[in-house]
This record gives sequence, C-alpha cells and structure tokens, in this order.
Amino acid sequence: MLGEDRLAAGDADLTLRAGGEALGQRIIVFGRVLDSGGRPVPDALLEIWQANAAGRYRHVVDNWPAPLDPHFDGLGRVVTDALGRYEFTTIQPGAYPWGNHHNAWRPAHIHFSLFGRAFTQRLVTQMYFPGDPLFGQDPIFNAIPPTARDRAIATFDLSRTQPDWALAYRWDIVLRGTEQTPFETDDDGYVA
Ligand SMILES: [Fe+2]
Repeated sequence: MLGEDRLAAGDADLTLRAGGEALGQRIIVFGRVLDSGGRPVPDALLEIWQANAAGRYRHVVDNWPAPLDPHFDGLGRVVTDALGRYEFTTIQPGAYPWGNHHNAWRPAHIHFSLFGRAFTQRLVTQMYFPGDPLFGQDPIFNAIPPTARDRAIATFDLSRTQPDWALAYRWDIVLRGTEQTPFETDDDGYVA
C-alpha cells in the first residue's frame, strides 16, 4: 500500500508543475470519503489522473492532435484527514475522443484511485461534471447502473469557489451501503 510518506508538498495542487502554471480553468475538487452510515474514512490515499484542458493525457497512450501542457501532468495525490476530507486544486479536464464507436467522446472526468485501511483492495472510479452533454453517448458512463449515475457526478459548489481564482466541485465518495459510489470492476463493469 502506498503511504503518506510518499506524498510530497504540492501533490494536491496539479496546477503548478515544472515551474509554471497549467493552462485552463482552475477548479477545486473536494469532498469526503465516507463509509456506510456516513462515517468519515480518515487516512485514505486518493490518487487522481486526468486529461489536460485540451483533453489530452500525458501519461497514457494518447496521440490525438490536442496539445500537451508542459505545466500539467494530470497526476495528484492526497490523504484524507481525520474527518475523511480531501481537496485537490486542478484544471477542468477537456473531453477527448476515443475509438469505442464512431465519433465517440468521453465526457470530462477525473479518475480516482483509493487505498486505505477501511477497505481491502484498491478502489477505482471516475468523477464526472454536472450537465455534461456527452453523458448520453458514453458507454463507460452508461455502464453505471442508472440509479447510481448521479453518485458519479460532482456538484458545483459556489460557496467553495475562490473569488478571482477558482471554481469548486464537491464529490463525496461512499465506500459501502445504499449510497455507494460506483466503482469499476476488473471486467470494465461497475459495482454500485
Ligand atoms: Fe480518462
């Protein structure tokens, strides 16, 4: 298991890399990791990876003609605090095309991986943004059981925006119970 000792200062802020600022809309992504019954899960390691503002990944095979950003690697990590809270500062990811079907585009999303003492295996999921017009034609989003899809979508939170600086999205991750977040399975399905 990865530990807190692997964290470095700045890991939770993806907008500052290689001595400069990433291009794009700054966003704060925050929330809590909760067990069933709403109990907070402290000391969970959250790792995220995402495309840049143009919809391009740096660290996966990704060759479509959108620009890379020298100041954005799309990788972040943070450990939840005693109240189960986490927070990243990052860039609104762009949509990107993929070859699943004709003219297929992934809705904007951030990949999340969770490790922690409260669960025995790594949990992997994706966070989406509210109102994305690409939800309807995305097989990955639509692999989530219909009643659980809302739990994969963050909520815009004006109260947590930073004036003249960044927008904010809240997304709680629930490990178990009736409000469980949809998690990916090894066969590209979802358990929710
Ligand atoms: Fe992705």
